[in-house]
Amino acid sequence: MKFPVTKNPNPGTMPEASKLGFGSVFSDHMFLMDYNAKDGWHDARIVPYGPLSLSPAASVLHYAGEVFEGLKAYRRKDGKVQLFRHDANVERLNISAERIGLPQVPVDVAMAAIEQLVELDQAWVPSAPGTSLYIRPFLFATDPALALHGVHEAMFVIILSPSGSYYAEGLNPVKIMLETEDVRAVRGGTGYTKCGGNYAASNRAGDRAMQKGYSQVLWLDGVERKYVEEVGAMNVMFKIDGKVITPMLTGSILSGITRRSCIQMLKSWGMEVEERLISIDELVEAAENGKLEEAWGTGTAAVISPIGELCYKDVKYTINGFEIGPTAQKLYDELTGLQWGDKPDPFGWTKVIGE
Ligand code: PLP
Ligand code: COI
Repeated sequence: MKFPVTKNPNPGTMPEASKLGFGSVFSDHMFLMDYNAKDGWHDARIVPYGPLSLSPAASVLHYAGEVFEGLKAYRRKDGKVQLFRHDANVERLNISAERIGLPQVPVDVAMAAIEQLVELDQAWVPSAPGTSLYIRPFLFATDPALALHGVHEAMFVIILSPSGSYYAEGLNPVKIMLETEDVRAVRGGTGYTKCGGNYAASNRAGDRAMQKGYSQVLWLDGVERKYVEEVGAMNVMFKIDGKVITPMLTGSILSGITRRSCIQMLKSWGMEVEERLISIDELVEAAENGKLEEAWGTGTAAVISPIGELCYKDVKYTINGFEIGPTAQKLYDELTGLQWGDKPDPFGWTKVIGE
């Protein structure tokens, strides 16, 4: 499957690696596809990266009918470019779309679109250590009408952003604050999806945490405010008394692709992993008793991000002396080794572009 391409007459140049940051530089092209109830998905095309034209009444602007994904392409040492588990991202995009009432995209079209766009713009895949091409597919409702109704018109877009590390800290530990007032999601809601609305609901708490010097918040469950859920842009894992414990997928947290990859890797090394409810009281007790050995977040943008400090109700708990611990370090080394093609991929998670 190949999509028609309109070449960008004014290609850009990639900034040097140290200036990339996360998600603020974009490649020369983007993928677009339209949907309407009569014709279904149609007019798939690759065009120069640039502004989109939307009716001011487009329902996404009023009622937040939007879902997105985040994945990466990596530059290998042999110069080739590879994707990591893009099938899983497309599958999750459709799980999110189904929840929000958006039309699902044909899986083969979305996979081929990612592959062709990355191949076309492969000069934008950076090669400096720790850099990659962040891929952002997104899908939103464009019906130009203010009445509440199902989605009859939509658009699917993919943009590419050469990026460095998500946190300014890089692989150094981050400080995370437990959020005790706002909640992000409840069971039966949209917490398990990557819909824009979840992130809007998170903004206020995130801003408050940043003002206090924390990178992001760790959410508690929306009903009892007792169980630890996830961080703004990553799932969380704790090493307590030799075991890795991560919040179970209750419906209000995202089923992270990095999370599931880490669980599989940890188990393949013979480590015990528990997916279960973990209360903030259990976590505090483990921290006080010296049993909380390590904590880290997992995510496409965040990769493996050690958590060096947790703040709960104004009490600060330092974890592993604010150092990256051995389990987080090993996960980082093995996962990034596989993603950048420096280590073998026994799981079959990578796909080399053009092969
Ligand atoms: N949780 C949230 C809320 C996220 O935004 C992300 C990032 O995508 C994750 C978890 C991690 O998911 P993944 O590993 O699939 O990137
Ligand atoms: C990702 O890791 O892909 C994300 O979506 C994080 C994003 C919210 C910044």
